Amino acid sequence: MNLFRTKSIETMLEGTKTVHLKKSLGVLDLTFLGIGCIIGTGIFVLTGVAAAKYAGPGIMLSFVLSGLCCAFAALAYAELAAMVPIAGSAYTYSYAALGEMVAWIIGWDLALEYIVGASAVAAGWSAYFTGLLKSSGVILPHMLTAVPADGGIVNLPAICIVVFLSGLLISGSKQSSGFNKVLVSIKLGAVLLFLFLAIPHVDVTNWSPFLPFGFNGIAAGASIVFFAYLGFDAISTASEEAINSNRDLPIGIICSLVICTILYIVVAATLTGVVSYTELNNAEPVAYALRSFGSNLGGAIVAVGAICGITTVLLGQIYGQSRVAFAMSRDGLLPKAICKVHSKYGTPYLMTIITAVVVSILSGFLPIGIIAELCNIGTLFAFSLVSIGVLVLRYTRPDYHRPFRCPFVHVIAPLSVISSFYLMVNLPMETWIRFVVWLILGIAVYYFYGRKNSVISQAATKR
Ligand code: ALA
Repeated sequence: MNLFRTKSIETMLEGTKTVHLKKSLGVLDLTFLGIGCIIGTGIFVLTGVAAAKYAGPGIMLSFVLSGLCCAFAALAYAELAAMVPIAGSAYTYSYAALGEMVAWIIGWDLALEYIVGASAVAAGWSAYFTGLLKSSGVILPHMLTAVPADGGIVNLPAICIVVFLSGLLISGSKQSSGFNKVLVSIKLGAVLLFLFLAIPHVDVTNWSPFLPFGFNGIAAGASIVFFAYLGFDAISTASEEAINSNRDLPIGIICSLVICTILYIVVAATLTGVVSYTELNNAEPVAYALRSFGSNLGGAIVAVGAICGITTVLLGQIYGQSRVAFAMSRDGLLPKAICKVHSKYGTPYLMTIITAVVVSILSGFLPIGIIAELCNIGTLFAFSLVSIGVLVLRYTRPDYHRPFRCPFVHVIAPLSVISSFYLMVNLPMETWIRFVVWLILGIAVYYFYGRKNSVISQAATKR
């Protein structure tokens, strides 16, 4: 049995012919879609944790480092997204480039990005929500808003938002591009308002010592704040809906990444300039910094913006997970029943419910730091494989039409692999152990199920 059997790009494109998605997204829509999936818990929550625990004011350099790693991966994603305009993102690309077994591992791994990522994002949402209620005088009991590791019983607001959004997704309420644009504008407005209010209060003495934890701190910080960049790859899942995917997809991916990188570096510099990095280890550092100089109203407005922004990220992640799982089940690697489509709403409701249950358990009971680290290692691994995939396809399908070519691919793709691996190395040992256990579990599931039931394998048996 050949575990490295690939599926040709032509076969995949053939499969999408039966169902057409309307091509309605232009470059601005795609860029907004990207920013909608990118800016969320990472900047509004993790920046503070990472500055306080790992990098100090040097957190701005951590953003540069992980932004570079994402830029390399983004170029690889852009080439594949334009070349294979099929939903399923990294999973689909690796099926074409590296074969079924690697594709399965990536799909299994993407669950870490989406399910585990959604859990961290839900926890961030809860922090801003309870903070906002608190500043308007409503104090929810600690035991119902904190996970056991933080002295509570359950993070109930996190569970509630997951259940609510999953219900919305099941009922088919589709984020229209216009609706997304409104929420993204509110979120961008919140970030700009923060900068406008906080920059005049920057006290440069807070930037000293600049590197309290040395260079290692920057690297460790980079591997945590990497989470803030996740989501640009989500644009590639919209490739079937882009009007001019060849041109607009790469532009959308790269533009949204550039805009977010600039914003992140400026926000990180401002945050650590307004208050000492030692005070930032809390769940809503951006609003905290504003309150520190008495801007309670500003804190409240920014918190509302953060809540809107984090909501779009969460919606995108739960949606993304159901889409990848859908593609995997179409290929026979997951049981068909899991991705059963609702007779009335036409959505993969079972997969959405399963996702909601797992995300609720994780965000309701585990601390945000642990969840985000696990998500990062999974995504970095996917970035490496996608970058290898770009190179492999340059050799196995040299003549295939590439509307966008990753420049200097022989340099960029290896740099992407090296930088992803470097950030992975900087994650704690426990995260590695959890990741390896997850992969072993995935390989076992493939061995006992997917290997025999995949569509390709079934077709080969019939022949
Ligand atoms: N980049 C996304 C966030 O920061 C996952 O919430």
